[in-house]
Amino acid sequence: MYRAVCVVLCACLLLPALRCENLLCYYCPLQSNGEVCRPVLSECPPQEVCSTARGRNGGRVVLSQQSCLAKHECHLEYVIKYKGTNVTVSHSCCDWHYCNSGSRITVHSALFALAVATTIILPAWAS
Ligand SMILES: *[C@@H]1O[C@H](CO)[C@@H](O)[C@H](O)[C@H]1NC(C)=O
Repeated sequence: MYRAVCVVLCACLLLPALRCENLLCYYCPLQSNGEVCRPVLSECPPQEVCSTARGRNGGRVVLSQQSCLAKHECHLEYVIKYKGTNVTVSHSCCDWHYCNSGSRITVHSALFALAVATTIILPAWAS
């Protein structure tokens, strides 16, 4: 019983696309790339995913942003004026919790390890 509940919970944790709950993502406003931002955790509205935006000027990344974004906007690119230059902003989206942290593999692995631990170790412990 515990195991079944846990498997469901863990699946939700790993695959928010199952729509168990809204995604949690990091948020940093659009700002100069390299400028320090202490990311704020935010809960996205339904149907939104985590996004990392990059503003490029001739291949060089000059702006970055982390936020929630509507799925259908993930592939959009737009040009903004920044310090007198044209900067092309594009997004890369992902749909698991905290996946736009910038160190996504680490965070995802940590979540995965936690989920595995919760699924396997805790029920064994409790029984
Ligand atoms: C920026 O874009 C505008 C219109 O999109 C264009 O007229 C202008 O020449 C561009 N400037 C540079 C520096 O590329």
